[in-house]
Amino acid sequence: MNYRTFEPTGEKISLLGFGAMRLPVIGGDHNDVDEAESIAMIRKAIDSGVNYIDTAFPYHGGKSERAVGKALKGGYREKVLLADKFPLFFVKSADDVVPIFEKQLERLDTGFIDMYLLHNINKGHLKAMKECNVLPQVEKLRDAGKIGRIGFSFHDDLPLFKEVLDSYPWEFCQIQLNYMDAGFQAGVEGMKYAASKGVPVIIMEPLKGGKLTDSVPDAISRLWDKAPIKRSPAEWAFRWVADFPEALTILSGMSSMEQLDENLRILSDADAGCLTDGERALIGEVAEAYNRITPYSCTGCQYCMPCPSGVDIPECLQYRNDWEVYSHNEKMRELFNMWFAQEHRPSNCVECGACEGQCPQTLPIMKALSETAAIFE
Ligand SMILES: NC(=O)c1ccc[n+]([C@@H]2O[C@H](COP(=O)([O-])OP(=O)(O)OC[C@H]3O[C@@H](n4cnc5c(N)ncnc54)[C@H](OP(=O)(O)O)[C@@H]3O)[C@@H](O)[C@H]2O)c1
Repeated sequence: MNYRTFEPTGEKISLLGFGAMRLPVIGGDHNDVDEAESIAMIRKAIDSGVNYIDTAFPYHGGKSERAVGKALKGGYREKVLLADKFPLFFVKSADDVVPIFEKQLERLDTGFIDMYLLHNINKGHLKAMKECNVLPQVEKLRDAGKIGRIGFSFHDDLPLFKEVLDSYPWEFCQIQLNYMDAGFQAGVEGMKYAASKGVPVIIMEPLKGGKLTDSVPDAISRLWDKAPIKRSPAEWAFRWVADFPEALTILSGMSSMEQLDENLRILSDADAGCLTDGERALIGEVAEAYNRITPYSCTGCQYCMPCPSGVDIPECLQYRNDWEVYSHNEKMRELFNMWFAQEHRPSNCVECGACEGQCPQTLPIMKALSETAAIFE
């Protein structure tokens, strides 16, 4: 396993981190975690050098924290940094913080969480975080010795990322990054910005949640076939992230032992500078080819917002595009249902047309919204 240094303390962190959001499940039921297999996988990862495990309150309906807690019995807890997250999307008042945190400790069966993140910061959740005074409550937990470090995970645009990063002495942060999202959300620029400020960056979704590996379109496979060294789509995607020295650890959700074995192998080999210029160019070609099969060329500029009916138009277009580009990947319906708030969903569109008058790309937004509603709702 390759390791990188958590600069503030000099600790060595494994380049592969175990993301416990996509554990193996029984009978396709996302909330029925296969505990025996999950425990075996997490322990094998730790025995193979992984020392960073990431879970969160809502993962697998709370079963992820429980499975992780069980996996870390028998001496494994002391071998890892355990990351868990405070669900900003559930908070209604400052009084919610401690009970939720205590519930997490109970599920994990531990007295201490090394890395505690404010989960999924975006404009809406940031407002809730401030209104409910979440940070001072979390600081008290740290002062009481129940939390090691305070960080945040992020899903919004780059200006907001910089604003959040500059607004508080965060001890680490977590962003989505893969070769399709180099310029999306925080992106490469956000990662480098955080690193330049001395804030360690944890990477999530290196395979875009599996969309870069499941059902790869033929046009993309033909491009990969041009590479002199043959690698799986997963390996190309991991190498693209590992090539950046600013990535402290790369979290992958793994749903089978075979995936774990492959990812252990890849990140024991790939490290900063692991790609040639030719390989970087090939990955760029693949990203362009994916972009060419994108139906709506939305740049996420937000000119269409706010929608008078509350629809989150750029997010809807992202779902609509991804549905086409990643070969109608059924996992997207799960994500949509888990994360997309009812009041921002595309079916709220009343076809007033205000958005289309503002779109610099002149996109037929109402048509895209109606398609998105038909697919996902
Ligand atoms: N804080 C947040 O807001 C947030 C958001 C997202 C994720 N996260 C965390 O970050 C972690 C990583 O994100 P992620 O789970 O989306 O990671 P990811 O690595 O992009 O996607 C994981 C999926 O990729 C597929 N996969 C993994 N290894 C593979 C391999 N070797 N070959 C082929 N397919 C492979 C699997 O799909 P199949 O199961 O379909 O086979 C797996 O479920 C999560 O587990 C979670 O802990 C946090």
